[in-house]
Amino acid sequence: SCYGATEKEKTLAMMKPDGLYGNYDDQIKKMVLDSGFSILREKRIQLDEHTARIFYAEHSSKSFFPSLVKYMTSGPVLVMVLEKENAVADWRNLIGPTDAEKAKVTHPHSIRALCGVSAERNCVHGSDSIQSALREISFFFVKSLASKWCCFGLLCVI
Ligand code: TYD
Ligand code: MG
Repeated sequence: SCYGATEKEKTLAMMKPDGLYGNYDDQIKKMVLDSGFSILREKRIQLDEHTARIFYAEHSSKSFFPSLVKYMTSGPVLVMVLEKENAVADWRNLIGPTDAEKAKVTHPHSIRALCGVSAERNCVHGSDSIQSALREISFFFVKSLASKWCCFGLLCVI
């Protein structure tokens, strides 16, 4: 039998430290639910430096990386698994562009326009592709939630 084959797309969302400090969590959750997402899982965690560096490994050579890691470890974050059809792209649209300062001008109704302040302090994260969503969901939650897998007798394939 197959797990996940008939399920809706999932994405990883995160409220970053300033999103939580600013008490935007209830407002953001309302926007999430009003936009048709289901929140399958959520947990509040404090990232340590090692975890933050691995999560953002693709940016490890960028000049902003040390500052990003410092910001991401500056307080607790709230990670969530969101589900809906087209979840990855729809969540990216709802959060808006990376630079929150620009988002306030170009995407004033986006979440980053609401609670972000800069390209670094943009208050929320969203997976940028289905592949990233699988990696990021299994990074924080059990693998079975992220993967689509099927078993034929004893043989299971992803
Ligand atoms: P990126 O993956 O480009 O953006 P997004 O979060 O929209 O997918 O960058 C990851 C994070 O790195 C971004 O959310 C904040 C930080 N960052 C900076 O601090 N400065 C920058 O100039 C950029 C591009 C990103
Ligand atoms: Mg990204």
